[in-house]
Amino acid sequence: MITWGISANSHNASLAVFEDSKLLFASDSERFSKIKNDPHLNRDLIEYARIVSGYPDLVCWYEKPWLKTIRQLFAGQGWQDNNIKQYLSNYDIDAPIKTFKHHHTHAAAAYYTSPYDSACVVIIDAIGEFETLTIWQAEGKKLKKIHSSLYPDSLGLFYSAMTQRCGLKPNEEEYILMGMAAYGDRKRLYKQMVEDFVMFPHREIHNPILFKQNLHRGCKWWKPDLQSEQDKFDIAAATQYIYEQSFIRVLQMAKELTNSNNLVLGGGCALNCSANPVAFDYFDNVWIPPAPGDNGSSIGAVLAYQKNHIENFTPYLGTNITIKSPNEQIVDYLIKNKICGVARGRAEVGPRALGNRSLLADPRDPDIKERVNEIKQREQFRPFAPAILEEHANDYFVMPTEKTPFMQFTIQCRRPDLFPAIVHKDNTSRVQTVGKEDNKEFRKLLEIWYARTGCPMLLNTSLNVKGQPMINDIIDSFEWSKTYGLPVFN
Ligand SMILES: [Fe+2]
Repeated sequence: MITWGISANSHNASLAVFEDSKLLFASDSERFSKIKNDPHLNRDLIEYARIVSGYPDLVCWYEKPWLKTIRQLFAGQGWQDNNIKQYLSNYDIDAPIKTFKHHHTHAAAAYYTSPYDSACVVIIDAIGEFETLTIWQAEGKKLKKIHSSLYPDSLGLFYSAMTQRCGLKPNEEEYILMGMAAYGDRKRLYKQMVEDFVMFPHREIHNPILFKQNLHRGCKWWKPDLQSEQDKFDIAAATQYIYEQSFIRVLQMAKELTNSNNLVLGGGCALNCSANPVAFDYFDNVWIPPAPGDNGSSIGAVLAYQKNHIENFTPYLGTNITIKSPNEQIVDYLIKNKICGVARGRAEVGPRALGNRSLLADPRDPDIKERVNEIKQREQFRPFAPAILEEHANDYFVMPTEKTPFMQFTIQCRRPDLFPAIVHKDNTSRVQTVGKEDNKEFRKLLEIWYARTGCPMLLNTSLNVKGQPMINDIIDSFEWSKTYGLPVFN
């Protein structure tokens, strides 16, 4: 039986293909349409999925349309039809449809891809139908919701509103605000921000997040006199600090409610890799899937229906590019020229390049950060991440756990002086560990690089430029190389 999971018509559309319980393919729509965070499906994506499996016998949809319609009316967004049968018919998809609640599909995407058979599941995002934070007790195949916080109290909406306040794109550039936080003074605006927006409820009140304002429409009006670059860095720092304090309250409550040692974290806010490491203060093990946001909910919708764990989950689920270049050749080039692209094997699901659609560079070179930021047309303050052989990670980073294969945690670097290209202002790095079982071809490349240079890591950033999706197929690879004048090895 062929089942397609679909998340679309909001932001970051995606599609997942299952044959019975086997996950065959998953991709964001943007990789095919070339529109960053494309909210809609497109013909090329559908055609690719159709080649993989044929048309589906069943579609699992990532939220409850009628409940969303009610929320939209309640929120003053007017009547919106949300007729998904009609929406899907635009793409010639005419199969029975099952729908699941937004936070349920987030929870299923996170838990059923985890290696745990019991866990506490915490989902934090901007807004589902009404839910903004949910906590679940997971036991075997069962997911039981034990807490929910509702719109308009939302950590995600708060973070997005401040993203917009700093002149960035809400629902897209929250990661830039997170990067800016390291340059700000978190104390300067903290008191004022708390006074204007946040309530930290007494612990007896069973809701860890309460806000004084509905931030759904943003807060561009807040402190209009604060417009300098440093003002924005300080807003970012205070926002991040408030998020971290709230996140700790959520974790404390989740721990109290479930008493589990395993935490599974999902929803778009699980991409806050600066806040995430604190989870290890409360839980022994933490799992965050590579696509915890709505784009992972296409997988989650099917898993909510099937209630099956995926054994040995891999993020390499997208379009395939046949591997041709020997790793030795790539390392030769890197030693000589310091920077190159790689686009080979199956594309990663989620926002991070994990070695198959990556721009790689020598992390030891002091000029590399500037050069890569120039190629990618990004702000100079933006940091880059390292991919490191797993067994060496603790030698160079204060690892809270052995494996961080999806770059979900920022971690203190022990030797920032040696690796200027991959440390942020606060000497942290968003580390990707590459173990023997993770990505065999990328692992081999790192092993050869290490044998030749004595350095067990490479700078690893996504193969795109600012505002564009990562490259997808071989044609994108040729075009990118031609446009930006850098070789991309396949
Ligand atoms: Fe969500």
